[in-house]
Amino acid sequence: MNSRQAHLSAGLLCAALAMVSVPLLAGTAADKPASRETEQTPFPAPEASLEKMRKTGDLVGQRRHLWRLLAELIRTDNSLPLPRFMTWYGAKDTFGVPNPAPLAVRSVRSLFAVDESTAQRAALASSPPLIVVAHYNEAAVRHIRENSLQQRATLKSLSVEPRATTRAAFAREIPAFPRSAVVLKSAWWPVAGDIPVAMPIWDAETNAATVSGNDYPSWRRMVAVCPAPGNLKTTVVQLMGRTRRLNCVGIDRFFHLQIDAAMAEQLRNEPTARKLGAMVLGRAFRPGDYLALVALHVATRELPDWVWGTFWWHDQAVRGPYAAGRPEDLAGPWPNYLMNVAFDADLPRELDGSPRVVFNPWLEARFADSGHGGGTVSNCISCHRRAAYPAVGPFAVTRGTQQDVRAAGSMASVKTSSLWSLPLQAH
Ligand code: HEC
Repeated sequence: MNSRQAHLSAGLLCAALAMVSVPLLAGTAADKPASRETEQTPFPAPEASLEKMRKTGDLVGQRRHLWRLLAELIRTDNSLPLPRFMTWYGAKDTFGVPNPAPLAVRSVRSLFAVDESTAQRAALASSPPLIVVAHYNEAAVRHIRENSLQQRATLKSLSVEPRATTRAAFAREIPAFPRSAVVLKSAWWPVAGDIPVAMPIWDAETNAATVSGNDYPSWRRMVAVCPAPGNLKTTVVQLMGRTRRLNCVGIDRFFHLQIDAAMAEQLRNEPTARKLGAMVLGRAFRPGDYLALVALHVATRELPDWVWGTFWWHDQAVRGPYAAGRPEDLAGPWPNYLMNVAFDADLPRELDGSPRVVFNPWLEARFADSGHGGGTVSNCISCHRRAAYPAVGPFAVTRGTQQDVRAAGSMASVKTSSLWSLPLQAH
């Protein structure tokens, strides 16, 4: 990583946001099949070596792969100061237009443009607000577009399988994504440009699992995030009826965006963001406020059931199993993020012999226990392997591979290559 990237300042990002349009094809690998970029990087990694890590439950190797993926995702292309994952397509770019023209430009702002499906809206309405964004790289979007998978009619026609007579097996699958496809999901917390705000912090040891889930309002600890860089000034903050005197953490310890006027307006007009803004900032979003990255999900099609990893911010991210293997040269705010990885729904098993647990506190801890445990014992693959059109139980926690088969789909389903957004967002 270069030094410019290590010092991604708010000002640079603000400039990038103001620029709004990012040329789509610049610096993307898809148009330059044998580019130096692909040769020099570990992505996509050879399938055989990843498959070996999966089968043997080689966590050290799996974690090494995920840290390398992060380094790829945050690399800057060309002259833009933005990490490349921030220059990808959002859900609205991917699904929003019924007959999309080839996209020539997209913007950071369009990433945050909301295109929630009814199912997502229902799930969100009942939970505390959070700004959540999906990112699709060019290989993923091309595949979706070329196969018209953004259209419900396509999924519907693929799901009709006259010979399927049992619930047990999915008869159909959508065409396989290329191994270079990457899909991300990110979550963002508002930080005021002028005053400190409170942010909940997940500590597994002080937040016992509850039947109704463990969403952020229940987390016992908070930090104060201050708009200025630096640390340790004591300040009083309030959130959800709790008042605390806390040490300040500078915004520079997060990957963050500074909001310009157009982005502030967009966030004021979007119900979930508006609700979160009011709750955290105590007022509407204004230009000069920030969005701080608190969670980042990564899925790559490097293995048939995809490779899954997840990152979340922590104020003491230096130690413990989720900091393990983090490269010394990871620069900028990224050493403040913890990470976990799923190559398999079962392996390596937990100490008690149960299937592997991999979740992000911001995104899955909230799932209620509907009989197999809640979000804090969930696993990306156990849930995403069930992704199918029509969608059955997209937010229901299952464990391991045995349960997901039983819980999944019906005879007239088409598996959607582990992506839930296809059945939920197709128009
Ligand atoms: C209990 C089910 C469940 C679990 C567990 C789960 N997810 Fe998801 N995930 C979903 C659903 C449903 C969506 C689509 C709707 C949404 O974004 O809320 C989704 C969306 C995503 C997306 C956007 C792409 C897409 O179409 O699916 C990514 C990337 C993702 N999840 C990664 C992960 C990772 C990484 C983990 C594990 C750390 C994980 N998920 C755990 C249900 C789950």
